[in-house]
Amino acid sequence: MRKPIYALGGAGLLLSVSMLAIPAQELTGDLPDPPDFAAQSEPNFVSVGDILEFKALPEYHEPDWVTSKYVEAGTLPPVAERLPKEPLVFKIGDMPDGVGVYGDVMRHVIGGRPEGWNYVGGQSQGWGGIDIGLSECLTRTGPLFEVKADELEPLPNLAKSWEWSEDGHELTMHLIEGAKWSDGDPFDSEDVMFYWEDNVLDPNVSPLNGATPESFGVGTTLEAIDAYTIKWTFKDAFPTQYLYTMAYGTFCPGPSHILKPEHPKYNSANTYDQYKNAFPPEYMNIPVMGAWVPVEYRPDDIVVMRRNPYYWKVDENGNQLPYLNELHYRLSTWADRDVQAVAGSGDFSNLEQAESYVEALRRSAEDTAPARLQFGARTIGYALQFNFSANGWGEPDERAQAIRELNRNPEFRKAISAAVDRQRLGESLVRGPFTAIYPGGLYAGTAYYDKASTVYYPFNADGAGALLDGLGLVDTDGNGIRNFPAGTTGGADVEITLLANSDYGTDTNLAEGIIAMMEPLGLRVIANFQQGTARDDMAQAGQFDWQVVRQGAEMVSVVQNTAALAPTGPTIHSFHRGGTDGTLDLLPFEQELVDIVTKFVSTSDNAERSELMKQYQQIFTENVYSVGLTQYPGALIINKRFANIPAGAPIFMFNWAEDNIIRERVFVPADKQGDFELHPETLPGAPGSAGPA
Ligand code: GLA
Repeated sequence: MRKPIYALGGAGLLLSVSMLAIPAQELTGDLPDPPDFAAQSEPNFVSVGDILEFKALPEYHEPDWVTSKYVEAGTLPPVAERLPKEPLVFKIGDMPDGVGVYGDVMRHVIGGRPEGWNYVGGQSQGWGGIDIGLSECLTRTGPLFEVKADELEPLPNLAKSWEWSEDGHELTMHLIEGAKWSDGDPFDSEDVMFYWEDNVLDPNVSPLNGATPESFGVGTTLEAIDAYTIKWTFKDAFPTQYLYTMAYGTFCPGPSHILKPEHPKYNSANTYDQYKNAFPPEYMNIPVMGAWVPVEYRPDDIVVMRRNPYYWKVDENGNQLPYLNELHYRLSTWADRDVQAVAGSGDFSNLEQAESYVEALRRSAEDTAPARLQFGARTIGYALQFNFSANGWGEPDERAQAIRELNRNPEFRKAISAAVDRQRLGESLVRGPFTAIYPGGLYAGTAYYDKASTVYYPFNADGAGALLDGLGLVDTDGNGIRNFPAGTTGGADVEITLLANSDYGTDTNLAEGIIAMMEPLGLRVIANFQQGTARDDMAQAGQFDWQVVRQGAEMVSVVQNTAALAPTGPTIHSFHRGGTDGTLDLLPFEQELVDIVTKFVSTSDNAERSELMKQYQQIFTENVYSVGLTQYPGALIINKRFANIPAGAPIFMFNWAEDNIIRERVFVPADKQGDFELHPETLPGAPGSAGPA
């Protein structure tokens, strides 16, 4: 590698080099516009009321075999008794192919593995839409991609309606009445309160998607008024924002009748670990509010789910949903998900690893291709994030603490940003018009993005080096790696660990790109590549110096998970959380970001909101809060036999495509149905039983 000449000099030379430091403004430059890449289809924009309503229908229907094998045999109540008083009714007018027929399977392939079924207790089910399908939430956001922009508001779901008090501090929500868990136990406010009090508010429990009290605003309270009414009280007036946080994955209650007996508060024999792990993957028929229930699990092979006989949603003709009898989740790899969906041995993929785009496109363009492939907007984005805690989050040792101090230095972050050649990084994933230079902050092409408020530090290796020189980081021992000043870590080499998810080729490829680009700068970056669950645990625990991550929905929609756009509380942000004493050591610019986000949440004035997000973008990018790497479009791959796939469904916007396409409404026309059901004509059995009844 290039040996920096200042390495050879003594203190005198050091000083003169630091005087050469380039002023920051010279490091900024013009941000090129993303290459043209039109999304391949547009949604038909509708109102929420066009999609669904809650009402009783004169009659209800179910698959014939459910009636004959279960209801007539006396092992299951008639469908009308299993449904709530007023089921959620999907309107025919919003169904692209109309009322469906029963049967068939959607065969998913995933790269994750289920840790167990205690979602509210913090266990992952392996992603890829498993938990999205099992968990129903107070509100719903996935289908919002097709809701008119000026009418944007989360869809009702378990909360069928709500109203604000006159002063806007209280929100009363009405839960769906008479709905049941998949084992027939009533769903009511006890489930909601158990989720809130004993999982979100209990500091010993971390629900899977990171819901914390701060997710709903500091000081927010929730109480049950009666079995079907709950009341929120907020410090702010009309914080309509939190309606989005009440959707997947932050307010999806679990079955309290099954979970409570394992929770240490109600069972003194159990530890919190035992609570979390009380429902291992082998435990079958966990009660869910979702459309399908896990009935078979084979490690590293498959999870099979069967239709929930108590599902509380119907079509306008009164047909109980879902139309699909079964779901499969092959336990494989994420890359295999693309391959199988394109080949037709799987049914669905979010094409999101840019490395496989060219091959997937080629095969899908053929007439004989079994699957449709449809690109959306550039909503997949990666960033390099710095751990900002200097007060103990993740318990750093002396070296790591020294890195934290560097991470908190704006000159250091600018140097790192300027050392990243984003063009090359994007092209290393895939050539063509897919990837765009991503300077950080909100994504170009999304509603709140403002180019004029975006500060960009283009690739500038010399400028980056000069900035590090200016910080006194020079290679004092001539080994090609810069050293800390003698007073820090005894002047050791600057070594930085980089956490990334090894389940995805894209994550590790980008991380390797960063490592390679830091080498000529004289920084030794050491890969810490961990499998999904282990990575998530380390990230949550703050055990990283830097991390390369695929970012969450807040960067796309802003209105989703808004509180996570800045460290608005000690446990909400992805790279800055409270230290050993629970407090946040915010830098002044971070405090500004927090204030902006807090204001955004407390206003519903659209002009003010866009103004606030311009400020957010300006402060975020100017200070290189994290280093944006690349952003690119994803494609939905779905087997051609499926009907009712909405036009323009993005793989990622308010939620992932597994929610966006409204799977409970998806069906396969009779003449196209395959022979894929592994447990035909069975329903989920008793909880804990080994398989379907
Ligand atoms: C993983 C996949 C995404 C999507 C989500 C759903 O993160 O990479 O494409 O399927 O799971 O939770």
